[in-house]
Amino acid sequence: MGHRLGVLTGGGDCPGLNAVIRAVTRRSLDRGSEVVGVREGWRGLVEGRLVALGPREISGILPRGGTILGTSRTNPYRSEDGVERALRTWEAERLDALVAIGGEDTLGVAARLHEEQDLPVVGVPKTIDNDLSATDYTFGFDTAVSIATEAIDRLHTTAESHNRVMVVEVMGRHTGWIAVTSGIAGGADVILIPEEPITVEECCDEIRSRHDRGKDFSIVVVSEGYELTYKTGERRGVAREATPVDQFGHVRLGGVGDALAHEIETRTGYETRVTVLGHVQRSGTPTARDRVLATRFGLKAADLVHEGAFGQMAALHGDEIGAVPLRDAVAELKTVPPSWYAVARAFFG
Ligand code: F6P
Repeated sequence: MGHRLGVLTGGGDCPGLNAVIRAVTRRSLDRGSEVVGVREGWRGLVEGRLVALGPREISGILPRGGTILGTSRTNPYRSEDGVERALRTWEAERLDALVAIGGEDTLGVAARLHEEQDLPVVGVPKTIDNDLSATDYTFGFDTAVSIATEAIDRLHTTAESHNRVMVVEVMGRHTGWIAVTSGIAGGADVILIPEEPITVEECCDEIRSRHDRGKDFSIVVVSEGYELTYKTGERRGVAREATPVDQFGHVRLGGVGDALAHEIETRTGYETRVTVLGHVQRSGTPTARDRVLATRFGLKAADLVHEGAFGQMAALHGDEIGAVPLRDAVAELKTVPPSWYAVARAFFG
């Protein structure tokens, strides 16, 4: 006799979510389980909004971006009766297990519900930021990097034609994975990330030295999480003031590209423009690589449910899909190591 299995997607949307939903559903249906989708992340569990998932619902969703279930940054632990209501929905819906697909916040809630309420939950890691230490890669990252790389390639021709400095602001809340990887792939002349914050002065020196060598345009990639850093040691986070904070305590980032461009133009005198890639990095169809990783994670999550291995999360180690405790997924941030930044730095200036 199969399970009655719930699936939810929480946090920011990410290319490949639908591929996970399809794989979890397909394998579970094949085993005779019933599958229901929880609408809009934890909000759907709190509010009791679920939909049946069958062959028809998952047909054609593999290449689609976003999530057919919707998503939210709702945290049931942030309202007084959030957890209680989620448990009531669980009972009313006669769920036997839940697959939670999300990043550190969604999986953090999943880990707590498993540990504190003994809920049979399995996790699938998701984030375009690629900053979860328990897995080598997350799906969505490859798509984001591809989009950012294409943007850098395109901006080269305008930078060249106008003798401009083009600053490209990319996503990455805590880490510079998207900036470093797309910057290396796109041949950026300077890359600024939170892990190794080079100073504004160093950034301007690199651009000047390029110009001195006859290269009168530059591409600068900056991660949204980089804080303007000065040789005096002063640091300035941008767009942190007066922006709304979500239920997991995150401010809305964005704006460092503008601030950096202003500094570069003022200090070097070179005409500078900014492109903020924003949500285009998360939108649209996933790359083949992300579809495959998401599919493998989805099958693994369904298998973990089948085996009763709750409190675990699917993870990629090398080329193998394995499982790690959910708690580990959110324990540590995977930052860009110095060796990666050294690759980027070899092409600065
Ligand atoms: O965590 C993924 C991410 O895309 C970050 O890179 C970014 O800071 C954040 O989500 C943006 O969130 P929102 O979609 O709520 O603006």
